[in-house]
Amino acid sequence: MVRAMLQLTDADVAALLEKTDVVGTVREVFLAHAAGRTVLPEESCLRWTNDEGEACRSLNMPGLVEIDGRRIAGTKVINASLGNPARGLARAGGLILLFDLTTARPVCALDAAHISAGRTAAVSVLATELLWAAPARAVAVVGAGALAEAHLELALRRWPSVRQVRLHDRVRERATDLAERLGDTHRTVAFDVTATAEQAVREADLVIPVTTTTSGYIPADWIAEGAVVVNVSLDDLTPEALSAADQVVVDDWSLVAADTTRILGRMHRAGDVLPPPRHRDPNTPAPARPAVEVTAELCDLVDGSAEGRTAATDRIIVNPFGMSLHDVAVAGRIYQEFLT
Ligand SMILES: NC(=O)c1ccc[n+]([C@@H]2O[C@H](COP(=O)([O-])OP(=O)(O)OC[C@H]3O[C@@H](n4cnc5c(N)ncnc54)[C@H](O)[C@@H]3O)[C@@H](O)[C@H]2O)c1
Repeated sequence: MVRAMLQLTDADVAALLEKTDVVGTVREVFLAHAAGRTVLPEESCLRWTNDEGEACRSLNMPGLVEIDGRRIAGTKVINASLGNPARGLARAGGLILLFDLTTARPVCALDAAHISAGRTAAVSVLATELLWAAPARAVAVVGAGALAEAHLELALRRWPSVRQVRLHDRVRERATDLAERLGDTHRTVAFDVTATAEQAVREADLVIPVTTTTSGYIPADWIAEGAVVVNVSLDDLTPEALSAADQVVVDDWSLVAADTTRILGRMHRAGDVLPPPRHRDPNTPAPARPAVEVTAELCDLVDGSAEGRTAATDRIIVNPFGMSLHDVAVAGRIYQEFLT
């Protein structure tokens, strides 16, 4: 008998996520990825301009991962229009489809917004904990949308060390609204809304850009000694900031290398990037003077096969392209939780 496809709404997913260890799940997925227990095709991206002249896109991100001794397969379709906030809508939204491993038929469709934001924040938090010199005290967040909120909610719940959050958004009231909402719950943290991105970033020991920019504006000299920058929105750093970093860590090199639009993928195409060690081809000459050396993938840090930080003063950039495996694994756990 073919079971009808289950649909889990945004509210269903939000409630079930409360019972899910997202950071733990993301960690297990990195271990599975390091051990070859994953299938991760390139994502595909459809872009268009709508009749209002706004940029729209649809990403399709399939993946298969084996955790808990069983395989989970599915895909995330995540769409966005830059004009949605002005319509009172979230910029991005979509679905995660889970597949039956035997028949290949979709068995569950889950609203993607909370899972996508939650897994992205979990990857950033895990990467930071693997790479920081000491627990974060001053955190800078540039961009005050859905991803900023997901990151700060998770980080502040997890890290009692944080004393100050500096928030900047080009639309100031988005930053003040978010600071007020979080300030109600986190009374020991000072929330400072800054007039410029530079004021937020300078002297922070953790920097999280979560904007929608397509051109870099964070130069090397804004980044403090010893800081970790988790480059979530992927285009906020200048090429020179990437070159000046002591370490550049990616989540998955194949995804970064296949991408033609973001800064690190573009620099790779121009021959300016030395891939992480496990992706270096001994038969291909390394770039003569790579501007950027990718020192590791996150799965190497999680399984201990790569060294993380080597000096307290290192400036470390994490470039998390975004892996469907995390969405699919979190969705799979939520689906199991729903069934039990
Ligand atoms: N790497 C990943 O795995 C991953 C996953 C999900 C989302 N993202 C990216 O994260 C980013 C944020 O997503 P979101 O859903 O929070 O978007 P959002 O639209 O909800 O929020 C973005 C905020 O950034 C502000 N902003 C845009 N450009 C700015 C600039 N130059 N300076 C200051 N503020 C600026 C906007 O005013 C807005 O408030 C997007 O670029 C998205 O593609 C990355």
